[in-house]
Amino acid sequence: MHKDELPTPVLWLDLDVFESNVAYLARYFRDACVAWRPQTKAIRWPGLVRKLLDAGAAGVTCASLEDAERLAAAGIDDILLARPPAGPMQAKRIGELAGRCRLTITLDSAESAALIGATLEDPANRKSKIQNRKLATLIEIDLGLRRCGVAPEQAVALAKHIATVPGLDFRGLMAWEGHVLSIADPAARREACIAAVQTLVRTADAIRAAGLACPVVNCGGSGTFRITSHVAGVTEIQAGGAALGDLQYDAWGTGLPPALHLTATIISTAVPGRAVIDMGYKRGGGGAMLPQPKNHPGLRTIALHAEHGLLEVAPGTPPPPVGSRLDLTAGYSDQTTHLYNRLYALRRGQVEAVFDL
Ligand SMILES: Cc1ncc(COP(=O)(O)O)c(C=O)c1O
Repeated sequence: MHKDELPTPVLWLDLDVFESNVAYLARYFRDACVAWRPQTKAIRWPGLVRKLLDAGAAGVTCASLEDAERLAAAGIDDILLARPPAGPMQAKRIGELAGRCRLTITLDSAESAALIGATLEDPANRKSKIQNRKLATLIEIDLGLRRCGVAPEQAVALAKHIATVPGLDFRGLMAWEGHVLSIADPAARREACIAAVQTLVRTADAIRAAGLACPVVNCGGSGTFRITSHVAGVTEIQAGGAALGDLQYDAWGTGLPPALHLTATIISTAVPGRAVIDMGYKRGGGGAMLPQPKNHPGLRTIALHAEHGLLEVAPGTPPPPVGSRLDLTAGYSDQTTHLYNRLYALRRGQVEAVFDL
């Protein structure tokens, strides 16, 4: 089937570009001598995630328990859950998940450690194969994002505490230096990124000095991996979305071509200087970075309403015909892929695979 036969709005992936991006990233991390544990929050489909593992990723990172459960159910074995548990019900599910895959969890409080520890000790979970070993645990460190994570100077105490919690195996540190992405000047951003990640590495050293093993120092995203991968002491990089190469990643300097696109249909050109598509934010994604027409310099997306996308038609550009189809590059994959259960994977315009959730 050709792309033009798919009903719009539709989300699709250029497989040639995606595979080339994945190969590039795998080689990049191999050359930098760091393990690659890509974030899969946007690359949600197990069949796609599998391509990253086949290319050499050591395991994957998930930002939600639902994502981790879905990947584990599809047979993906080595999963880092990069978020603290949300209460006892999630702690119980984490305990169950740990029996089905090689799971590493991230937390930043004694309360979360107690919650998971209690679940693992619960006789109801005794059948789980996790009972034969301890659950690998990373502490999240706040490097300046001010989201989750303990301050670096609190890490030694929390690591010592986790080492005493039955069922947990303290393995190291995780952080995301995403706060530096808002620094516009590249030199200042680089300096801030290096300083932040060096703080993480020093924190790991302090934990080792306190007598605990701390083999994992995990950080790095798509907007920072070209810096973070080269900070001595980092062992794992989480950059994932870069493989999709959307406009947001391009703006962050990822330097990889876009693989994730949408196709919409022009439904109106009645207002002079405007073309309207059948794709608003409910299908095109929210946020600051809008999907933009591919190969149409005279057309620019200026707003997405719920079910309408508004494009500005540059003066002198003939408006696209009503009923014609328009390809757009995704604005930010994290704010787009969760809107679709189905992803079409295309090679030179032909559907090669359909990924469903
Ligand atoms: C914990 C964590 N690591 C890494 C990232 C970067 O992910 P990506 O490389 O997919 O942009 C994020 C982004 O939200 C994150 O929350």
